[in-house]
Amino acid sequence: MTGIDGNTRVCGLMANPVNHTMSPVLHNLLAEEMRLNIAYVPFLVEEEGLDEAVKGAFSLNLLGINVSVPHKVRVMESLVETDEAALRIGAVNTLVRLEKGFKGYNTDYTGLHRAMVQEGIRIQGEKVLLIGAGGAAKAAAYLLGSREAECVYILNRTLERAEQLAGDMNRVFERDIFIPMRLEDYRDLPKERYLAIQTTKVGMSPHGLEAPISDPDFYEGIHTGVDLIYTPFETRFMTLVRAAGGKALNGLSMLLYQGIEAFELWNGCRVPEELCELAYRRMKEVLE
Ligand code: ATR
Repeated sequence: MTGIDGNTRVCGLMANPVNHTMSPVLHNLLAEEMRLNIAYVPFLVEEEGLDEAVKGAFSLNLLGINVSVPHKVRVMESLVETDEAALRIGAVNTLVRLEKGFKGYNTDYTGLHRAMVQEGIRIQGEKVLLIGAGGAAKAAAYLLGSREAECVYILNRTLERAEQLAGDMNRVFERDIFIPMRLEDYRDLPKERYLAIQTTKVGMSPHGLEAPISDPDFYEGIHTGVDLIYTPFETRFMTLVRAAGGKALNGLSMLLYQGIEAFELWNGCRVPEELCELAYRRMKEVLE
């Protein structure tokens, strides 16, 4: 924020709860560093008021909106257009202003991609374990399919949800690469070297000693583990991956880049990599 005046454009996050968000820290830092007259604020929005909130935001000339839990699916009903990837994922986290209303995008998946590229983690040709089949897993699954993973085992506590997600994604990509599996059946996985993406909330603070699978043998087959959790900074899942000799990444850079991608969509700019690194350090400080 460069000092609010008559030309300040407002962006914000609609979520419930919204008070723990780090997005204002990120976006206001980006605006300041890039000398853009933007203020980013949190909006607590109840489910029954979502449509009115989006329409009201448009009438109030907001530049852009982020949308988080629990509104990422329902918000699609209030938009004039939805980007194709977001439609296929079935969730929107970024609204971009058009002439007659907002267009929805999903920067969770592009943000995860950018975080992985930044870390030199490849997807194409990889055999992947996707742990979880909820909202976060959908964005990751779409990324894995669109970047041509060789195969993706979707491991979930509830088999039906893994089957649903695998079926949806196999249809989207017209290839049978997604294979549903019950989480507890992980011993039946072919002995391979996998990239693993952990999308459940198991292991999130204050349950930092937990992991979706605690058997160290499981981790012997994982060369790289990406956990979408970032509190604690080092999750049990990551510790188990590292103990078995693998590389591990937490979810903070995905959080960073989903915000960077939204900021770039709103402002038609590219955030320089040095500024991404500065923003990452600031977000890490806020976590500590
Ligand atoms: P999100 O949008 O964060 O992905 P979600 O849609 O509620 O949240 O999905 C939560 C995911 O975490 C699901 O895959 C869920 O498994 P189920 O489909 O069986 O519910 C998984 N999950 C939650 N608690 C879990 C636990 N204790 N053990 C294993 N998986 C768990």
